[in-house]
Amino acid sequence: MPSSDNGPWDAKVQQFHGGQDWARIDNFVEDFSVTTNAFGMPAPAMAAAVRSIAHSSHYPPADQEPARSSLARFLWPDSAGAEQGRLILGNGASELIDLVIRMAPAGTWKPGPFRTQYKEYERSARNNGLELLAADAPDKANVACLVNPCNPTGDYLELPALKDWISANVLPGGYVLIDESMQPWHSAEFRAHSLTSQHDYVRQMLDQHGIAIFVVHSWTKLWCCTGLRLGSVVCPSPDHTRAIKKVQVPWSVNVVALEFLDAVVADEAYLQKTWELTPVWRQEMTARIAEQFPAWECHGRPFLSWIWVDTKSEAVAQRAVDLAYAAGVPVRSGRPGYNHPTFIRLAVREPAKVDVLLGAWRELHSA
Ligand SMILES: Cc1ncc(COP(=O)(O)O)c(C=O)c1O
Repeated sequence: MPSSDNGPWDAKVQQFHGGQDWARIDNFVEDFSVTTNAFGMPAPAMAAAVRSIAHSSHYPPADQEPARSSLARFLWPDSAGAEQGRLILGNGASELIDLVIRMAPAGTWKPGPFRTQYKEYERSARNNGLELLAADAPDKANVACLVNPCNPTGDYLELPALKDWISANVLPGGYVLIDESMQPWHSAEFRAHSLTSQHDYVRQMLDQHGIAIFVVHSWTKLWCCTGLRLGSVVCPSPDHTRAIKKVQVPWSVNVVALEFLDAVVADEAYLQKTWELTPVWRQEMTARIAEQFPAWECHGRPFLSWIWVDTKSEAVAQRAVDLAYAAGVPVRSGRPGYNHPTFIRLAVREPAKVDVLLGAWRELHSA
């Protein structure tokens, strides 16, 4: 059953996500349905994770150390000591998204300004009784969540535009969650473009307006470890970090994930390769799609690990999903969850795997 259906998700109570098909496909070749790094799990960190099984008869460290400090040095090479009290790890970003929204003020919730965005924020807001506003509602909200870069649309706001959006959309005393899971793909200079570098701004927003800005990262995409579950949030102050700690289940990040993280932050060669080749492979993919399917439109910034494609036809999108599934290269339909049935989302992958995908779509040329 391709991922245009609800697959193993219980549609009545759960939010649909991609990435579930691979295990049910006998002829599986490559997963195009997720936004993970095209280079797969970095080998040295994977080796560290495998070794960590030997320590897994013990509890994980309650303070998430030394992995937490290692991630702090990765985020802030020059000021980790001063900032790391604001950092906490979670069992995937998903755990932290839910915890922060549980702690948020009551009232209204608003998504980012894009056509759609990653849906866990909305799910959590709804579950916690917030009133959902439309992205273009004129009112400011008590809680606002923006995914930047935006999965799946590929939109991206640089810092000045992001700050303008926050000022225009959040009430005094409100909470803002900015999801920068895909932002490290930006370039080797990603830190300078990230909200995590804006210490004075975040402090001023808190002191002057009572607006608490949280920066969420899923590390399961950049380091291709979705099965390990690894995320973090940079809080506006150490007090906010402690408030999360108070409600977070102990040991929520397991030994394997912690030791993986501790190792992976040192893998500079992996990131160099990511920054160099992802845009090249992405450009090649979009060029081949434009050539073979001139009616389709590819969306998203050139540095991203996926392409959001408008096929302009529900029937064509569905056929593309079905053919990809049958060929062992599942793609993400835009229909379940995002409700954009003419769209499909494709991970950037190595050219040989793209050959398989485009081969599977040969019959679409006459559609
Ligand atoms: C933008 C974004 N944020 C958060 C997540 C959740 O990630 P995790 O696997 O760390 O829970 C995802 C997963 O697809 C995502 O795309």
